Amino acid sequence: MTGEPPARQRDWSALRGGRTRIGLGCDYNPEQWPRELWPQDVDLMRQAGLTFVTLGVFSWSLLEPEPGRFDLDWLGEVMDLLHAGGIAVDLATGTASPPPWLSHRHPETLPVDRDGRRAWPGGRQAWCLSSPVFRDRAVALAEAMATRFGDHPALALWHVGNEYGCHNAACYCDTCAESFRHWLAGAYPDLEALNAAWGTAFWSQRYGDLAQVLPPRRALTPSNPSQVLDYARFCSDALLGQFLAERDVLRRVCPDVPVTTNFMTLNHFRDLDYHRWASEQDVVSTDHYLVATQVDAEAELAFSGDLTRGLARGEPWVLMEHSTSAVNWQPVNPAKQPGQMLRNAVSHLAHGADALGFFQWRASQAGTEKYHSALLPHAGTDTRIWRDVMRLGSLVERLDGLAGTRVSAEVAILWDYAAGWALNQPSQPSELVRYGDEAQALHAALLRHGIAADVVHPHQDLTGYRLVIAATLYACDDRAVRGISDAVRAGSDLLVTYYSGIVDEHDRVRLGGYPGALRDLLGIRVEEFWPLLPGERVLLDDGATGGIWSEDLRLEQAAAVARYAHGPLAGVPATTRRDADGATRWYLATSLRGEDLDRFVSMVIAQAGVEAPVDAAHGVERVVRTGESGSYLFLINHTDRPVQVAAHGVELVSAHRVDGTLTLAGGGCAVVRQSSNESS
Ligand code: GAL
Repeated sequence: MTGEPPARQRDWSALRGGRTRIGLGCDYNPEQWPRELWPQDVDLMRQAGLTFVTLGVFSWSLLEPEPGRFDLDWLGEVMDLLHAGGIAVDLATGTASPPPWLSHRHPETLPVDRDGRRAWPGGRQAWCLSSPVFRDRAVALAEAMATRFGDHPALALWHVGNEYGCHNAACYCDTCAESFRHWLAGAYPDLEALNAAWGTAFWSQRYGDLAQVLPPRRALTPSNPSQVLDYARFCSDALLGQFLAERDVLRRVCPDVPVTTNFMTLNHFRDLDYHRWASEQDVVSTDHYLVATQVDAEAELAFSGDLTRGLARGEPWVLMEHSTSAVNWQPVNPAKQPGQMLRNAVSHLAHGADALGFFQWRASQAGTEKYHSALLPHAGTDTRIWRDVMRLGSLVERLDGLAGTRVSAEVAILWDYAAGWALNQPSQPSELVRYGDEAQALHAALLRHGIAADVVHPHQDLTGYRLVIAATLYACDDRAVRGISDAVRAGSDLLVTYYSGIVDEHDRVRLGGYPGALRDLLGIRVEEFWPLLPGERVLLDDGATGGIWSEDLRLEQAAAVARYAHGPLAGVPATTRRDADGATRWYLATSLRGEDLDRFVSMVIAQAGVEAPVDAAHGVERVVRTGESGSYLFLINHTDRPVQVAAHGVELVSAHRVDGTLTLAGGGCAVVRQSSNESS
């Protein structure tokens, strides 16, 4: 259920200030500040080397103060100033958050939760994803914006809405119920097919009429999981419909300007099927924020970058937002450590970003986000943050030439949002098994080995990768299974972790023994799951310990690599391999972490013949971007010790030549434009 691959992305170099340049920018909310400050803002933006700002994201109540009365002149003034200052504009349609008059007149536009409670206005993004009233009003504003600014010389990119689904990813109102039934009528040939897909013979849930079907509102027990899964698909599609309605108006009025909307490919947001959304973008853009309590937060940043690159089918993408320092939406919001902002920015570039955006220009004086960091802190320009911004601006200038180069990876990690929607529901063998945890742990282990990975949808052509990883890919449709098999038959090694290939796209178990869809390929058969209790560990006979999961596994054509050393499953294989058709198919039936996982990954990559681009200590991320302009080696030291790496060329962070050995401080990063003999 993915969209078609995107056509090649449209040219968005105006945002970056030139074809070869890396873009640097931020959200700019001038309406929060007196007019007199605007020219000073533009001056400071120039000093910092900004190439673009995103304008108008939350401006609807000022752009259309009363229904149908548009006041766009103030924004025109800002656009003129920015243009005069050489700053391009990523112009929002302004539709992210409706003005108070909309919900006052039309309370039915407010979203409803699973308990039937309608949200109140007063925050942001309070709109129902099926509301025809919201859609009409938003499209009208988008049209007014396009008509007024479509040929403004500062306009480089359209920014539709903002972070769709950030707060309103689902709505359970009667309008949504009706739209859901409509969606189902398109998804299934008839009611019997729907009954079969949802397994409604269970618990007397058989539907005799589509009119009986509701959104999965809160029931006395968990709702039908297949219905919940389809509802997630429906909500993602409904929001996509809203995006498309606005995008199509922009394309009609000003066909030459590329269009995007900013995704949230970060760890904690998985509510939209971005693979379907990505094919509708002229350029893929995303936002990323670190979560303070997350273990390995910067590895998660790298994962997010690789996922975003996968969504963009390998093409460069825009980091629309990240933070200069603290955010405001966690229980405790730590400041970024010295050097961390630069390291994070460089890491996004390493994973394929061609533009770096921040939220926001000036730290707000009032409102919910007044303690969120910005480029210009409350304390002004005599600050660590501002000096770091200036440093980043000069690095971005030196990176001229990087834009358009590509990351190439020999490992693919499969990622499917719908598999997560199916897995992360109640009534599973273990709630400790969460979609994405194993994928991210394996990605982090590869990163420590200096190995780059693409994070891609299983429907993508996988042939040609040296190693394909299906990490707890709980749901697999037939097309995914075919794709994985094709890659293996064409010579890719395969690594599968526990609880993969268990159900089809409707969350119906694949019978005959687990992991149903991948059983034959792996040459194993699992009879029964033996999930482990929280904190419980199981020792393997190779010295590793597993957590979270174990299972009663029989070897068919595979061989055991390690077995459980004690407990009820003593002697049962915990890791297996099958060598066939010139490829190795690994299976990991428990959850390994730390050095145990690193050892396992070392074995798998060695067998696949995957190597880091340069030798370095464990924990140093190494990525190469190459293209017509040359080859750039990104090094990010995730350890707290200095490390040495062999390099030849110009190191662009320090602006020094390096011939031989580069020393990277703990937490340091480097971008080496490699001399031609090193880049071949
Ligand atoms: C994003 C959003 C921005 C701002 C930022 C704060 O979710 O797009 O408008 O709220 O988070 O971290």
